[in-house]
Amino acid sequence: MLIKMNDYRELILSELANEIGADFVTKRRDEILNTTEMRKLLEEIEERGSSYNYKRLKEFKMLLKKVKMMKYYETRKFRTDGGLEVSILERGQYLEQLIERLTDTFKMIEGKVVLDIGSGTFPLYFSKELPAGTVYIAIDSRKEVIEELNKASTSHLKLIVIHSDACEIDYKSLLSQFNIKRADITLMLRVLSVIARTKKIDPVEFIESIPTRTLVVSEPLRSLVRKESVITRETKFLNSLARKLENRGIFAYHEIWTIGEEIFLFLF
Ligand SMILES: C[S@@+](CC[C@H](N)C(=O)[O-])C[C@H]1O[C@@H](n2cnc3c(N)ncnc32)[C@H](O)[C@@H]1O
Repeated sequence: MLIKMNDYRELILSELANEIGADFVTKRRDEILNTTEMRKLLEEIEERGSSYNYKRLKEFKMLLKKVKMMKYYETRKFRTDGGLEVSILERGQYLEQLIERLTDTFKMIEGKVVLDIGSGTFPLYFSKELPAGTVYIAIDSRKEVIEELNKASTSHLKLIVIHSDACEIDYKSLLSQFNIKRADITLMLRVLSVIARTKKIDPVEFIESIPTRTLVVSEPLRSLVRKESVITRETKFLNSLARKLENRGIFAYHEIWTIGEEIFLFLF
């Protein structure tokens, strides 16, 4: 055999790096090498001999699929990177513009109450710009997020941190516990499609159950796995959501705003 099996391992890894991203493949190298899919592919290559183009083998396609799923699950867990939320990192330079736009909206409607569903660590950034005395209710299902938020020093406002699955909350009673009839602004940033898919909820009914004057929903514009643009799909999703909510008389009008690689729907 011309190429040794060890060389094949490296060849396959570099092909995976091309397809899926070098950082991920380097980081999870040992795990990838230990998958059943990798073992089966190497056995098949050994059997066929080195003249065969391994990329055409179904075993290679299975391995590719497996590694894509590994990446998908890693991203979907919304891991933090050096203490920073992945969504915050991805916003990079646009984070400031986003905070500015949200703060302007909040001030324009003379808001007092923010409800942030699937908040991640976003309240740490947004809360800094909000007027003193603002009530900020942050809900997240992840323990690390809750711990991070509880450590925050946000003395100029009242930060209420709730550790819960967003779909298991009765929003009307939650707000009434704090003597609040409705939120002034509700944020569902990069979380609505995730909840809709994982919890099998109807986004329109879910939103309808939240007493709020305005709502901001956002979705990322790149698919987490292949990184291809999903702008058409997300624009359609948000426009259709806006139309349904307006038809039901829940909101009067909407605006779509795109910045960086994120699309926003503002509902008033
Ligand atoms: C992509 S992050 C977005 C964080 C933040 N909204 C932002 O845009 O910076 C999604 C967040 O939603 C939370 N999440 C996912 N499913 C949830 C659920 N069913 N209930 C509450 N939080 C949830 C995750 O823990 C995560 O912090």
